Formats: sequence, C-alpha cells, structure tokens
Amino acid sequence: MQETTIHRGLVGVNIDTTEISFIDGEKGELSYRGYDIRELTEASYEEVVYLLWNGELPNEAQLTAFRDEIAPLGALPFEVLDRLRCARPTTEPMHLLRTAVSNLACHDPHPDAIDLDNVRRIGHRLLVQFPTIVSTMQRHRLGKPPIDPDPELSIAGNFLYTLTGERPTEAATHVMDVALVLHAEHGSNASTFVTRAAASSLTDTYSAITAGIGSLKGPLHGGANEEVMRALEKIGSVENVEKYVLDVLAQPHGRVMGFGHRVYRVLDPRAAILLPVAERLARESGDAHWFEMSQEMVRVMDREMTARGREVKPNVDFFSASVYRMLGFPIDMYTPVFAVARIAGWMAHLYDQYADNRLMRPLLVYQGPKERRFVPLHERG
Ligand code: SDX
Repeated sequence: MQETTIHRGLVGVNIDTTEISFIDGEKGELSYRGYDIRELTEASYEEVVYLLWNGELPNEAQLTAFRDEIAPLGALPFEVLDRLRCARPTTEPMHLLRTAVSNLACHDPHPDAIDLDNVRRIGHRLLVQFPTIVSTMQRHRLGKPPIDPDPELSIAGNFLYTLTGERPTEAATHVMDVALVLHAEHGSNASTFVTRAAASSLTDTYSAITAGIGSLKGPLHGGANEEVMRALEKIGSVENVEKYVLDVLAQPHGRVMGFGHRVYRVLDPRAAILLPVAERLARESGDAHWFEMSQEMVRVMDREMTARGREVKPNVDFFSASVYRMLGFPIDMYTPVFAVARIAGWMAHLYDQYADNRLMRPLLVYQGPKERRFVPLHERG
C-alpha cells in the first residue's frame, strides 16, 4: 500500500504564497507587507488597512480619500438594525455578529459578484459596518439607542464613541488603534484559512466572511481572549493562580487559555507589545489586580512548561484580555472586538483568493470498514 502522510491540523502545510504578512515563529517576528508590527503600532488602523489592501502605506492625500470614502458606509440597513434590536439581550455577541453579517448580504443589491471591484466595495462597507454592529448590539442590550458615528473620528475613535456615547480621549483612541493594528492580520490562521477555503468554491464575500467569524469564535482561536478573562475572574487573586494553572495542566489535554501558538515558539510579538500597554493601563487606573494575576500566570506557566520541555508562551489573546478590561469592554465583547480588527486581514486574503483561485479540496484517509453487504431494513436484527 502506498505510504500516506497525514497532516493533522494541517500542521506545516503551505496552501499558497502571500505578500500580505510574514511570521517568523522562531524569532517571534511579524510584519505586514514588509513593515515590522512594532513600527506599525505608530500608525492608525486605517493606515494599516490601506497597507494590507493596497500593498503600500498611504500618503496624506490617499489616507484622507480613503477615510472620506469609508466614513459614510458604516450605517446598517434598517432590517439589519431591527434584527439586532429583536435579539434576546442574552444572545452571545459573536452569534449576533455572524448573523448580522450574513443578513447584510440580503440587503446588498450585488452580494454575489466576485470581481475585485465588487469585493472591494463590500470590503470597504464591512470595515466600518463591523464596528457599528458591535457597538449597536452592546448598546441595545443596555437598553440604549445606537449612536451615529462622528465623521470627524477615526475607526478606533468612533468605535469607542459609539459604544460609550462619550468622546474618547486621545490616549484611549491610541490604545484602541494599537489593539486593532495588532489583531488586523496573521497569515493563514484558522479563521483566515476558513474564509479563503469558503471563497475557493467561488461563493460570495458575505458567505466567506460569515464562515470566518464562526471560526474566530472558537476558544482555541479568537475566543481565547474571553476565556482568559473568565479564568482570571474565576481565579480571583494572585495567590490562587498557581493552583489554577496546576489544576488545568493536570487534566488530560488541559490547556491554559491565552498560552501557546501553532507558529510562535517564542513570545508572540503582539503579546510583547500589549504587555506594557496592559501594565500602564493598570497603573493609571489604580487597578493592578488583573495585571498582577496575569504576570503570575506567565511566571507559573513558564516554570511548568520549561519543566515539561515545552515552549509555551503567552499569545496575543492573553494581554488583549487585560487591555480590553481596562478599556471597559464586557467580556463577551472581546472576540467581537477581535473581529472588528480581523476583517482587514480576511478581506486582504479574499482579494488574493478570488484573484487567483483554486478550489481547496484536501483528502481524508479512509480507515472504516469495506465491502460490506447491504441488508434490507426488515432483515436487520
Ligand atoms: C489566536 O493561528 C493564529 O495565527 C491565531 C492567532 C491570530 O492572530 O489569528 O494568533 C490568534 O488564535 C491565538 C491562540 C489563542 N488560543 C489559545 O490561547 C488557546 C490555548 N492554546 C492552545 O490550545 C494551543 O496552544 C493552540 C490551539 C493555540 C495551538 O495548538 P497546537 O499548535 O495544536 O498545539 P498543541 O495544542 O498540540 O500543543 C502542543 C504542546 C502540547 O503538548 P502535548 O499535547 O504534545 O503533550 O504544547 C503544550 C501541550 O502540552 N501546550 C499547552 C498549551 N498550548 C500548548 N499546554 C497548556 N496550555 C496551553 N495553552
């Protein structure tokens, strides 16, 4: 019999080439279009989206034109708003986001065409409709009416403004920009792969993005940031961290959320950037509780993983959880906030996928029974 290699979890499988981003998992480096992620934290989210979608950073005129183009596109069709309003206040936000994006297709006169112009048109809308959906659903469950975005504010600024109704400080807007930039793109991660795989059947943009949202929601992927904060809440104090970690690791396949990565063998560079942000926010707020527990968790995990001969470091979701806490987001909004950023990467990959598509159709090695004889229903015991 011919030898068959199985790549469970598609580990080490290259599905295509890309010019969008590069990850060096051994060195802990990430760049978008050749620019180191650390330098890009000085840019606004819009600049980075422009870079991801066009290959170059915008000059001032290009950035202004891009901002002017997207500013009016964030409004939601009445029917989509109405669906959000009709949702039970206990509905999980990621279910609502996924449903709302799917629903947007029903109110777009051209949802299906996959030529670059149409997909880009949809991408421009989704970029600003995502934050509107997320802030609208949050306000709705608080019994508050939605707030119209302020065309003078950036995406980061508007997101905070439409969530809280208060104009954000420059410092808060900058932290939001940094979080959006760091979460914007990350190669062939699970949700981007799923988005591309869905698009490879030449289905429409909304279907592909809806699939991506579903994948991001999982606790092994974008959903981890919520699990991190739930764990910290459950732990409650620095003294309890050690027992919590040891208990999780003692379970078969126990995983401490916010640690480990398929590609990074060293510290995720995004976690390295978010760590001091979380620390500063904790200090400024006078509530260092979450940050101190996080630090202790890193310490205990480092000791335990080293003892097991494993390189398991904090990933982006670990410190983004504390940052989102400090920005005042409720826990079940953390993954939707991740999605607000990742729409940039999903769309960048869709532009490439549609431009040079091949159906993704991997194989499964069949190991079940063979050559069984069919027995009619009345003869089965
Ligand atoms: C994101 O892919 C991306 O790029 C994703 C992302 C992005 O920007 O798109 O970076 C965002 O999704 C970050 C990851 C968020 N997920 C979590 O924090 C969940 C907890 N982490 C893990 O379950 C795990 O580390 C994964 C899912 C992230 C990676 O899984 P792998 O590559 O399949 O690795 P594994 O689970 O098989 O672990 C390998 C070894 C294990 O040893 P053995 O089972 O062989 O004995 O590493 C150990 C584990 O012992 N390990 C962990 C651990 N992660 C790995 N042990 C305890 N806790 C963990 N979190």
